[in-house]
Amino acid sequence: MSKALELYAKVEHLLGIEEATDKLHHLFLGELEEFAPKTLLDVGCGRGGFMKLMQQEGVSCVGIDASEVMVKECQDDNLEVYHKNIDEVEGCFDAIVCIFDVLNFFDQDSLSRFLASVVSKLNDGGVFLADINSLSGFRDVAVGCMSVDEGDEFLVVDAIYEDEKLITTFSFFEKNDKNCYIKTKEDITQYFHKTRSFERVEGLKLLQKLPFSLYDTKDKILLILKKSV
Ligand SMILES: C[S@@+](CC[C@H](N)C(=O)[O-])C[C@H]1O[C@@H](n2cnc3c(N)ncnc32)[C@H](O)[C@@H]1O
Repeated sequence: MSKALELYAKVEHLLGIEEATDKLHHLFLGELEEFAPKTLLDVGCGRGGFMKLMQQEGVSCVGIDASEVMVKECQDDNLEVYHKNIDEVEGCFDAIVCIFDVLNFFDQDSLSRFLASVVSKLNDGGVFLADINSLSGFRDVAVGCMSVDEGDEFLVVDAIYEDEKLITTFSFFEKNDKNCYIKTKEDITQYFHKTRSFERVEGLKLLQKLPFSLYDTKDKILLILKKSV
């Protein structure tokens, strides 16, 4: 998986998702306001955009990401970001977030283990906020083919949805110094999760599930869970 995530990190700037990312970050920012966290863990923090936003609000932020490229970029930006899994992170937090499809990277078993780790990393009364793709988000919005031609970089993205999985193939052509294209191809698998998976998690109470539209028709669901004792 990690070779695929490294390729994702390399091509993310070609995907045209800046506006959607910004919209999502402000949605999370707004929803977190009422909980007034002082500390936050951003799992799958990517390039750290949300951490920067929260730091401006005075929140102390730690991030983790499975991509070393993403982690290095965040560290170069003076953000406290590690290439670790959640169990290896020191301390507990008032809020934990997973933003922009991060939970869909987990299959059902890893998701269950991950949610147990979230419970152990939250302070009492802490909150966990995450977005997941709705069925329509996967079936109607994410599937299909697109290409981007930037001259020195050429990307083809092709996504299919079957058996409750979205498989996205990234084919990336990058010009080298001999003016030849080098091709890299990787698949990323994302898993559909029913909101039911979040209703009976030991130690977490599902406070809200809010359908919202990032691109089109209720393509996403924002989940808000609180650590329960
Ligand atoms: C679509 S990007 C979103 C990045 C960021 N949250 C944002 O809002 O811009 C998904 C990120 O999740 C990371 N990721 C995927 N699976 C992960 C895992 N199991 N643990 C940590 N990070 C993961 C990827 O490397 C990537 O940076």
